[in-house]
Amino acid sequence: MLTTSPIVRALRAAHLHDASPAELLQLACERLRGLGAPFTSVYAYMLHDGELVLEAFSGRETEHTRIAVGQGVCGTAVATGEDQNVPDVAAIGNYLACNLETKSELVVLIRRGQTTLGQLDIDSDVPAGFTQPHHRAVKEVADALAVLL
Ligand code: SME
Repeated sequence: MLTTSPIVRALRAAHLHDASPAELLQLACERLRGLGAPFTSVYAYMLHDGELVLEAFSGRETEHTRIAVGQGVCGTAVATGEDQNVPDVAAIGNYLACNLETKSELVVLIRRGQTTLGQLDIDSDVPAGFTQPHHRAVKEVADALAVLL
């Protein structure tokens, strides 16, 4: 079974030991990627003045270190206030490509009440890689970050 409880526990422990927000985001990215397929690369973007800024990642590097709200899958999540689960990135018009290997993408917002703080963006080399349980699991991590950051 897919469980992110150990990741949430690790984040809480790091927070108790005065980990910085950047360290917590890095830990979240590394531990989620450590779950293996379909988690190929994990990116943490935080919202600053209407722009998503890449603050941590694990996996492949990306040229998209700043994304405007409304742009791409990431910016769409913020603009609509909805998490995005894209089974086939080639099938959508406003996709910002990082590489040719990525087939599907999951974006889960980090929200504190009504306020969007940022998001976890996960690329997968697996077509239609993300199921409801994956979404729920990543949301558990995003919700923990919303409290700890
Ligand atoms: N594919 C994203 C851009 C970010 S990279 O995947 C890391 C998008 O369309 O917004």
